[in-house]
Amino acid sequence: MDPSDVLGHLRKRRSHPAATLADPAPEGAALQEILEAASRVPDHGKLVPWRFILLRGDARHALGAKLVDLLEGRGESLDDTRREQEATRFSRAPLVVAVVSRAAVHPKIPVWEQQLCVGAVCMNLVHAAHASGYAAQWLTEWMAFDEQVGSTLGLAEAERIAGFVHIGTPTQVPAERARPDVETLISEWTPQ
Ligand SMILES: Cc1cc2nc3c(=O)[nH]c(=O)nc-3n(C[C@H](O)[C@H](O)[C@H](O)COP(=O)(O)O)c2cc1C
Repeated sequence: MDPSDVLGHLRKRRSHPAATLADPAPEGAALQEILEAASRVPDHGKLVPWRFILLRGDARHALGAKLVDLLEGRGESLDDTRREQEATRFSRAPLVVAVVSRAAVHPKIPVWEQQLCVGAVCMNLVHAAHASGYAAQWLTEWMAFDEQVGSTLGLAEAERIAGFVHIGTPTQVPAERARPDVETLISEWTPQ
């Protein structure tokens, strides 16, 4: 696919399952460029209601180990399969970008608008990774909604995880996925 063919890309794009994303991940100037592209979103009031936390290298394994400790500390008994699943949550792809929402009450800009803006950052990040020759998947899973995971990641009280965007080199071409019949989603308002 020609990455400069934006409409062609949008019409054919697919996420790549995190477990199919291999080394290498973007780093250095290439990663910077991707994060800058991701940050070029409509942002009412220029509030910049997001930030990024990079999870890569051994830190991904350390965070997975913390997930296991956290679950066991809550009295969950994990069989070997589940323990492995939790321990490797952040190690499927070589890079996970945690997109953090900093949306907060503001006198003019509704929190909802700020949250939509952060969603746009996540989607831009997926597009930018693909346009740079990598592939990505936007996941949340239970960890995004868990307060203890949030504090382990250093989130402030009002911050939330909008997505763990997994990025790496594609190893497979994903099969097509059913898409909505857009005709059924369209109506036209007419004055009564
Ligand atoms: C906010 C958000 C959270 C998501 N979380 C998950 C998730 O936890 N697990 C999952 O399998 N897919 C999740 N998805 C869906 C994937 O990102 C993706 O849409 C799916 O793999 C289908 O790929 P597609 O982008 O080709 O449609 C999430 C999507 C969004 C927008």
